[in-house]
Amino acid sequence: MIERTLSLIKPDCVSAKNAGKVIDILEKNGFLIVGMKKIKLSKEAAEGFYAVHKDRPFFKSLTDFMSEGPIVAMVLEKENAITDYRALMGETDSTKAKEGTLRAQFGTDIERNAVHGSDSPDTAKFEIGYFFSELELV
Ligand code: CMP
Repeated sequence: MIERTLSLIKPDCVSAKNAGKVIDILEKNGFLIVGMKKIKLSKEAAEGFYAVHKDRPFFKSLTDFMSEGPIVAMVLEKENAITDYRALMGETDSTKAKEGTLRAQFGTDIERNAVHGSDSPDTAKFEIGYFFSELELV
């Protein structure tokens, strides 16, 4: 089934000038970029995006990190995009992510892990809508 998923290149990866490398890897792995924008999240916008984690001990640190500098938000389209993109990202903890995955290549630890991807079709719907209107998707 052709699916869409939300991908974020996080502030650590953008500031390290690795965004272009990530985009190249995505295209080489068959993901079609149907929406893309570079933005800087406010603290409030980061809190809204990660509201599902609001009771976790890492919420403050995570939302500080996600609002510290620009990110690149993309909508990716592909057969099984959600599962395939999560496999390409690797485990949340960059130090445990398999060799060759985006987090192993560009992440540092469990928080500064370079990229984000939606974890289910329902989450993808919410997350795509958080950043893009239908008119912005090609
Ligand atoms: P992401 O896939 O964007 O989803 C939630 C984010 O919270 C995750 O990547 C990490 O950046 C961060 N995160 C998850 N677990 C932890 C943790 N135990 N400590 C710190 N940050 C975490």
